[in-house]
Amino acid sequence: MIPETAPKEDVYLASAEFCKTSHVPSFDKYKELYVKSVENPDEFWGDIAKDFFWKTKHNGEFLSYNFDVTKGEIFIKFMEGATTNICYNLLDRNVHEKNLGNKVAFYWEGNEPGDELTVTYRELLQKVCQFANVLKSQGVKKGDRVSIYMPMVVELVVAMLACVRIGAVHSIVFAGFSAESLCERIMDSECSLLITADGFYRGDKLINLKLLADDALQKCKDKGFSVKRCIMLKHLSKDAEEGSQSPPAKRSCPDLQDNQTGRVKKRRPVPKVPWNPDVDQCWHTLVKGVSDQCEPEWCESEDPLFILYTSGSTGKPKGVLHTVSGYMLYTAATFRLVFDYQPEDVFWCTADIGWITGHSYITYGPLANGATSVLFEGLPTYPDVGRMWEIVDKYRVTKFYTAPTAIRLLMKYGNEPVQKYKRDSLKVLGTVGEPINPEAWQWYHSVVGDKRCPIVDTFWQTETGGHVLTPLPAATPTKPGSATFPFFGVVPAILNESGEELEGPSDGYLVFKQPWPGIMRTVYGNQQRFETTYFKKFPGYYVTGDGCRRDKDGYYWITGRIDDMLNVSGHLLSTAEVESALVEHENVAEAAVVGCPHPVKGESLYCFVTLTEGVSYGRGLETELRNIVREKIGAIATPDYIQNAPGLPKTRSGKIMRRVLRKIACGERELGDISTLADSSVVDHLFQNRCCTA
Ligand code: WT7
Repeated sequence: MIPETAPKEDVYLASAEFCKTSHVPSFDKYKELYVKSVENPDEFWGDIAKDFFWKTKHNGEFLSYNFDVTKGEIFIKFMEGATTNICYNLLDRNVHEKNLGNKVAFYWEGNEPGDELTVTYRELLQKVCQFANVLKSQGVKKGDRVSIYMPMVVELVVAMLACVRIGAVHSIVFAGFSAESLCERIMDSECSLLITADGFYRGDKLINLKLLADDALQKCKDKGFSVKRCIMLKHLSKDAEEGSQSPPAKRSCPDLQDNQTGRVKKRRPVPKVPWNPDVDQCWHTLVKGVSDQCEPEWCESEDPLFILYTSGSTGKPKGVLHTVSGYMLYTAATFRLVFDYQPEDVFWCTADIGWITGHSYITYGPLANGATSVLFEGLPTYPDVGRMWEIVDKYRVTKFYTAPTAIRLLMKYGNEPVQKYKRDSLKVLGTVGEPINPEAWQWYHSVVGDKRCPIVDTFWQTETGGHVLTPLPAATPTKPGSATFPFFGVVPAILNESGEELEGPSDGYLVFKQPWPGIMRTVYGNQQRFETTYFKKFPGYYVTGDGCRRDKDGYYWITGRIDDMLNVSGHLLSTAEVESALVEHENVAEAAVVGCPHPVKGESLYCFVTLTEGVSYGRGLETELRNIVREKIGAIATPDYIQNAPGLPKTRSGKIMRRVLRKIACGERELGDISTLADSSVVDHLFQNRCCTA
């Protein structure tokens, strides 16, 4: 399954110097450990577990599971019977056992250059304990769900770990999502409490987060679900009094900067914060005078840890549920080995914590290793396109992890904004989110990394918890565009349409044959959907939904989604979700959405809409449709193209032929087999009226 020897030609290797100190220094070592991880997972993961604190040891089997729907319910259990607390392992263990209290956990870098904060492990522990006590005083108990809708600030980490400390289940909703999306997620997980902030800036743009949060809570109420409490962090409005509508004087992050001065460089308007005294409470008022000691709640291995929503092909997002012990071991191990973590590293993952990448590689993985990370609130292009490299130099970042879409975006501006900065601290570069085109890979390697840094192209999903196909920087010879080989404990296979495993070079469905500790355990509140989505198509396998090719050297190449999902800037969207937003407009009778290649975003959204009788298409309607999608889902789902489609290509049985629409969107005349198409004149009409810039 893993080749005997690694190829020597047309591959990129780490320097001998880099390999010398690496945890997995050679391909042979990788193979040896891989075999052990698959044949003897108990021992492999048991060794990793030794580094953590367990209140009680596991009893019975280390791993038990069923991946086969024909044999009964799907389940995965790691280290049953063990009890622990992740927050304790991330913070107390590092402060008290590893003597890392004074080590920096996060360098927070704000949207505005000059806005910065440093938080040590000891400070983080105190803040988390204090806020955990606040949550308890608000009536939050073990197992309760808490929604978090916050910008990229240290308090977001504090809020999530405070939940973890008391055994509550966090559900973080990316702050770029709309009120409607937040409402849907709050209701699905039946959250009793919402934590948010007044607002934040993304570049020059003010996001009035509290307003959106209020709107979401109102929507929940209208649908018969009321959230009892909303805790608001004053991120922008330091001096705002609760209930006051007057704009406060300074923008800053007051809770953490009591002893610091000089980080507010630019004064900006702050949002007016609507206040509902029955529901709203201020973070700062709540923490005042609260003890910073809080005994962790000891949790079972398979107790829920968090819910994170991801798009589903039916349109309704799925609440991916991860549990305690497996997720902890897996994010810790992948972080350490894939980024070859060393104690002096400064790690920077540019993702938002609102996505799984941020959960696993800003919060859990790095903190489990006692690492120092950069937590960045801003944008790669603000105030200019050199911002990323400026930050790399400022904090002497050693390991840098970003998305292909960001690389392609910056590539457009040429080498000068990169080469203006030294970047000599960089040692490993990573990518995640979508296939990286070899051209972007080469630019990342030669310009950003000065040909010095191994690139790890990490393939994984919200569902997998951590990396599943990935190079290890010293061990794996890389090929630009390939996620290379499985991580430890992961057993991939490629299946054909009939579910047969293909050997050697092949192309088909990417599946996994056995669980690794970080795999999701269920869809929250919907085990049925969990089984149908991931296990039904090919009994006995976890189905990723991605297509994959294996080359003659055994390397895996992700070829993209094979379900009705789109990947826009590294984020999954379901076509159904966008379609259902569009048809909510009274003038839209039917909608079909497809992806079409985009030079920066990977894919763009091309929407076909059939209008109701008698309505004519125009600019005004188009703007309304764009807005409705932004309102229902969020800015990430804004359609790039909308085409008026008096008719859609359908089969005789009435199924929309998306394959044909995709070709029309991309302007490809070669349609392939269209013998099942009911009315071919529809296709000609659509071709003639294409949005020609697409
Ligand atoms: C989908 C998962 C995992 C964090 C970010 C996205 C695509 C992800 C790669 C990669 C090719 C990739 C897949 C996958 N994807 N990483 N390195 N190469 N494709 O998480 O929103 O759950 O999306 O992203 O299509 O299924 P997600």
